[in-house]
Amino acid sequence: MSKVFVFDHPLIQHKLTYIRDKNTGTKEFRELVDEVATLMAFEITRDLPLEEIDVETPVTTAKAKVLSGKKMAIVPILRAGIGMVDGVLKLIPAAKVGHIGLYRDPVTLKPIEYYAKLPADVEERDFIIVDPMLATGGSAVEAINSLKKRGAKSIKFMCLIAAPEGVEEIQKQHNDVDIYIAALDEKLDDHGYIVPGLGDAGDRLFGTK
Ligand code: PRP
Ligand code: URA
Repeated sequence: MSKVFVFDHPLIQHKLTYIRDKNTGTKEFRELVDEVATLMAFEITRDLPLEEIDVETPVTTAKAKVLSGKKMAIVPILRAGIGMVDGVLKLIPAAKVGHIGLYRDPVTLKPIEYYAKLPADVEERDFIIVDPMLATGGSAVEAINSLKKRGAKSIKFMCLIAAPEGVEEIQKQHNDVDIYIAALDEKLDDHGYIVPGLGDAGDRLFGTK
């Protein structure tokens, strides 16, 4: 069974409150999503492997740790996932960035893939899929399908707000994919929106309607 981690760090929770607020405008919304993505990246990289090297300090030679060169890739689900990419890259600047384009059909709520471009060495990379919202889980499951079809072996899913339905759907379809979220909300409404949620993440990020 895939694990679910809720990042309840006070800074993440504080910023998320203003992200939810309907009076937060596009500029501030975008900045806050970027900041929360950075804070979440700090938590999600907690298990990165380290190796020991010798370092010359001004005083002596010391054994010290460095990252052991894991190959990583960030994959935003277009559009709204784009808002989280730069925030993650601030902490993992050497990561490659792939893109998966999906939108939810407004009637069926089923995801439709319209774009996919991943780094060439898919099998060797650890992937983090980013998207602010995990609602029915259809988009996340389809993005994971798309990565696995192209050879990805190691995938994490990171979002700001999840509905219980979406978490269950990933766990049902992809029990090897761990889920990292800032808040687990109550439910979905009749239109597949997360309650209380933050509204339409893509529209709020990009100022569309
Ligand atoms: C939103 C969101 C997720 C998806 C979540 O994207 O960014 O990708 O809905 O819903 P689900 O879990 O029910 O699939 P949307 O389809 O609105 O596209 P957009 O990012 O282009 O606005
Ligand atoms: N997509 C969004 O942008 N918001 C939701 O609440 C659900 C899906």
